Amino acid sequence: MDYFRYRRGILYCENVPVPEIASRAGTPTYIYSARTVVEHYRKLRDAFARNGLDVLVCYSVKANGNLSLLKLMQHEGAGFDVVSGGEIHRALRAGADPRTIVFAGVGKTKAEIRFALSQDILQFNVESEDELETIDGIAREMGRVARIAIRVNPDVDPRTHTYITTGKKENKFGLDFDRTRALVERLGRHPGVRLHGLHMHIGSQIVEVEPYVDALHRLMEFLPACTKAGHAVETLDLGGGFGIFYREKAARPPEAFAEALRPLLARTKCRLILEPGRFIVGNAGILVARVLYVKRSGEKTFYICDAGMTDLIRPSLYGAYHRIWPVETDPSVEGEAPDEETWKGPAGPADVVGPICESGDFFAKDRRLPALHRDQLVAIFSAGAYGYVMSSNYNTRPRPAEVIAADARFEVVTPRETVDDLLGRERVILMAP
Ligand code: LLP
Repeated sequence: MDYFRYRRGILYCENVPVPEIASRAGTPTYIYSARTVVEHYRKLRDAFARNGLDVLVCYSVKANGNLSLLKLMQHEGAGFDVVSGGEIHRALRAGADPRTIVFAGVGKTKAEIRFALSQDILQFNVESEDELETIDGIAREMGRVARIAIRVNPDVDPRTHTYITTGKKENKFGLDFDRTRALVERLGRHPGVRLHGLHMHIGSQIVEVEPYVDALHRLMEFLPACTKAGHAVETLDLGGGFGIFYREKAARPPEAFAEALRPLLARTKCRLILEPGRFIVGNAGILVARVLYVKRSGEKTFYICDAGMTDLIRPSLYGAYHRIWPVETDPSVEGEAPDEETWKGPAGPADVVGPICESGDFFAKDRRLPALHRDQLVAIFSAGAYGYVMSSNYNTRPRPAEVIAADARFEVVTPRETVDDLLGRERVILMAP
């Protein structure tokens, strides 16, 4: 459920007409619905918090690091999952309590580790023996003890895109159980760290519960080994990955994940941590673009937009499907955006593409769409996660603006980048040989 709905053929974000936002903020622009974000956060938290499970939802900043969205999450009581020093700064800037921040990533630098320790974050999710030794050394230098969770690679197949599969043994993430066991047994030699939890994250856009159940099962079987080695494990961090609706097989609702995992979780007193990103923000954002030109070539129609792969790279990078529909459409359209399967009106196949000099620069190929004309606004749906954060300045294109709507109000929370922003840090030096 989200709050992007048509009323007599005009798209609204909550109670704001999208054309009004586009005329104030220009295009391309990301528009987020505050209510959709909050409802998804609560839905997931409540599904797991039922039956007395102690759960901390650490929103995964990498999915969308917009400071005002982070503020909203912090206001709701969320913690944060980060993967860089920059993301720690982001979370803190939004008012996060450092003791709700978990820090993952296979390549944490010494500077990042030092900074995280100085802030006394909740836990480091450690991904290798080398990293553990580094954290231990820095913590001792600083006279601190780092709370760590070991990221276990449970070798399960989450049945999602290979680029976003992270919990199989051939992936670079985490440690297998044998290595984890060996590490746990010699942790005593590392007084700068304390085993605080176990962590896993098996992939993203996972629509079924079984991979989580398998992985958690393996994690639980491993717990006694930690106790035996003298460690009191306090947290179990199951990572993120909960899938959303794009078009493919509908993802299971959070209750289904919670129900399936509850019998296993009931056997421990550990505090549960979840790291959802996409589930919270994915359907809470759209990218609005304007059709610049309509071009026909043989059988093909191209709608060339002012947004491109530099603004939303998911279709180019993963072949991801995003629903696309005109912002102003047939007045008979009410409610949810139609798509090529539900739309009964006239439509033809077309490619929706961007202005970038790459053939891979497209949002949709051979998509059945009603005829679009020049200057028409289009909405690219489910663009709230891994949209703006993966944007780039290729072709010296300034990044789009970001807007948040709440009920009948909206604010431009990130102004559009300018060419001056892009060129400002560069120096012109003639380095003739
Ligand atoms: N925790 C860890 C350790 C992660 O690596 C990730 C995502 C998450 C949590 C959040 O996963 P989520 O709940 O959002 O699925 N760019 C790709 C997705 C990459 C996911 C990377 N890790 C995409 O656009 O589909």
